[in-house]
Amino acid sequence: MNVVREARKLFEENRRTTGGYQYTLPSREHYPYQWLWDSCFHAIILAGFDPESARAELRSLLSKQFKDGMVPHIIYWTPGILHLFRWGVEGTSSLTQPPMIAYAAWEVHRLDPDQTFLESIYPALLAYYRFLIEKRDPRDHHLVGIINPDESGEDNSPRFDAPLFAAPDISEKDHLALREKLVDKNTACNFDAETCMRDHFWVKDVLFNTALVENLRALGHIASFLKHADGEHFANLHAELVANAMREFLFADGVYWSATGRDYTLLRAATWGHFAPLFAGLYTSEEAEKVVRTHLLDPETFYAPFGIRTVSKRERAYRAEGYGDGFSWRGPVWMAPHWFIHHGLLRYGYKKEAADIRAKSVALLERSGFRECFNPETGEGQGAHGFTWGALVLDMADA
Ligand code: GLC
Repeated sequence: MNVVREARKLFEENRRTTGGYQYTLPSREHYPYQWLWDSCFHAIILAGFDPESARAELRSLLSKQFKDGMVPHIIYWTPGILHLFRWGVEGTSSLTQPPMIAYAAWEVHRLDPDQTFLESIYPALLAYYRFLIEKRDPRDHHLVGIINPDESGEDNSPRFDAPLFAAPDISEKDHLALREKLVDKNTACNFDAETCMRDHFWVKDVLFNTALVENLRALGHIASFLKHADGEHFANLHAELVANAMREFLFADGVYWSATGRDYTLLRAATWGHFAPLFAGLYTSEEAEKVVRTHLLDPETFYAPFGIRTVSKRERAYRAEGYGDGFSWRGPVWMAPHWFIHHGLLRYGYKKEAADIRAKSVALLERSGFRECFNPETGEGQGAHGFTWGALVLDMADA
């Protein structure tokens, strides 16, 4: 398979334009809308061969920003096709997703500099990160909370079992029912973060906060380039504050965990969330060495024949397969975690290990095509077909 050619073809097939806005569907049959972190991945991928479309993707994503700065995680550009995703109010969801927008924007600019574009989206970017810092951290403790597992991007990850009161062997159907019940509660508290978090679900997620740190740094670069001193100060200050708070509240036994509630109870489900902080350089070199050797490369936990398991094989919740032909974040390999880990490993100089992840990612595409996720033990594809995330291998440099 020529991965580059296939990826470009898929992006053309999944491209849509509505009301003058251009965006890419994560999968034509399963996901016929625009999703937040998917669009950031799309922009990062497109930056390599079609920067104009990369900019268009981000412009569309920011076009439905709420007045308070929130950027919704789904835009229902053509409503009524699917009724699966009922997180909406008038055309968008009321949740957000891992805040990868500034990183994507800076990456697009890095590959194809365009000051006018950056200037045009800068106010929206700043408003979004201000929203996260101000509204999602009501106690000013410098960790940003999510109000629903779907905001993490890892909808049914066992990281959220405890706060959802879900059993390790819960089915996807029952899990979705729990999350939908939470959406009803979110709706009742008007998606007001402070009330929703206090009363229902308040997780300080490790991946979300890691992404936030790295994105605030990217926002800092953008602000500095555009000579917006206030924005630069805000971004760099909060990148550091969040990184420090993650260390204080989320670090235990040599790894980072997510935490829940007022008192930062650690959610001790061993997931690839342990590796996410490599992406933002949050481990020291010595810590990283241990994380890589004793967790990432351990075949009994994360290191599977076909990639990195999203959940340790030792967890009771671990399941190599999705449910039916559906997706699952309870074990299968996903390309976005591979991408985060690949970049994290390179950051620390683990070239061989990073190249191995890239090679495994390419092998999965060749074996099973552009599927949503993959069985780590057999390489079999699961969930959506024609799923765009496989193209992230184009942004995994040959190390
Ligand atoms: C699934 C994934 C989520 C993604 C969405 C669209 O819900 O869990 O991360 O954004 O599909 O691809």
